[in-house]
Amino acid sequence: MTDRFVHISHLTKRFGDHTAVRNVSFEVPRGSTLALLGPSGCGKTTILRCLAGLETPDGGTIEIAGIPVFDSAQRIDLMPEKRELGIVFQSYAVWPHMTVAENVAFPLKVRGMGKAERLERASRMLDIVGLKGFEHRSATLVSGGQQQRIALARALVAEPRLVLFDEALSNLDAQLREQMRLELRLLQERLGFTAIYVTHDQAEAFGLADTVVLMNQGAIETMGPARDVFRRPATPFVARFFGLNVLEATLLGRIEGTPYVEVALGAHLTTRARAGSGLVASVGDPVLACIRKEHVRVEQAPMPDSYAGTIEAASFLGVAEEYIVKIDEIAIRATRPAAGFARGDSVHVGMSPDDWIVLQPGETA
Ligand SMILES: Nc1ncnc2c1ncn2[C@@H]1O[C@H](COP(=O)(O)OP(=O)(O)OP(=O)(O)O)[C@@H](O)[C@H]1O
Ligand SMILES: [Mg+2]
Repeated sequence: MTDRFVHISHLTKRFGDHTAVRNVSFEVPRGSTLALLGPSGCGKTTILRCLAGLETPDGGTIEIAGIPVFDSAQRIDLMPEKRELGIVFQSYAVWPHMTVAENVAFPLKVRGMGKAERLERASRMLDIVGLKGFEHRSATLVSGGQQQRIALARALVAEPRLVLFDEALSNLDAQLREQMRLELRLLQERLGFTAIYVTHDQAEAFGLADTVVLMNQGAIETMGPARDVFRRPATPFVARFFGLNVLEATLLGRIEGTPYVEVALGAHLTTRARAGSGLVASVGDPVLACIRKEHVRVEQAPMPDSYAGTIEAASFLGVAEEYIVKIDEIAIRATRPAAGFARGDSVHVGMSPDDWIVLQPGETA
């Protein structure tokens, strides 16, 4: 048996006739990290709120540390404060009328700990999050990033075994967000708590979590180790979410298990490809051919097996540039080291057979 610390089984939550969370099951091993990733409105926050006891699910069970905290059949629904977890929200919810130390010590005050001890522990936690010396400052007289650290220290001060983060880094500027991502990972390893991160930002999910659960309209679309989820998109929804080009194609056949497809691109591109999971198409069936933007080459001169196209849009990203290239009527996206092409330029587009993935068109295609 795995040492699962959180176990959610068949969780369902409805708001009126809208099902926000649909039959969701996953587990999180003790001391590991999981990210709930997905577009706006897919149910991430609702799952977190159900875990925390801030929302009552319509069905399913939630177990934390082997203890059922919610079970619809058994009518178990533990109060939030009995679930012993820490939460960090996007809005830091730092209390303005308290000092930094009082903010951090507050959860300990609620638990009835004496003043000297709780301020001592708050001080230690502030040191850990890099706010040593800020104890007596008014909590509103610090920057957004520092308020975020106060909220983090407050969530961790009672040494919860489980910490929930809801878009906790979203309000920070890009540089601070990256720094906090690294620090949070180190802190999590050092303190050993189990963490669930809710985010719509894939970089954050991959940077913070061992396991990624990608949600689509209240249900789990795919889940697994972060690397696998990213490298092998399981469905067209996943491929689109991670920004791959998803093009209509036809399955021509298989040679020793390797699919060959004809992609509806220019005068039709025939290529070998890698079969994605769940590919059941027969010869002649429509499939979807996917390729990462980073794998699409854009050059001025023709390359072997390349296609002539026109730059439709160019956007400068600093080190790289993103292009939309039109090949006849089909648009394909490419991310390249800045090459300086501009709208209207004639270019050649090259794609290697090794980089194509074929997926079964699904309901969400
Ligand atoms: N209290 C509520 N009453 C009615 N509908 C709600 C309520 N809370 C959430 N919803 C709906 O449930 C769905 C899921 O919402 P949720 O907040 O979980 O999404 P999310 O994945 O966290 O999105 P975001 O990335 O925008 O925060 C949405 O359609 C939302 O409008
Ligand atoms: Mg949300």
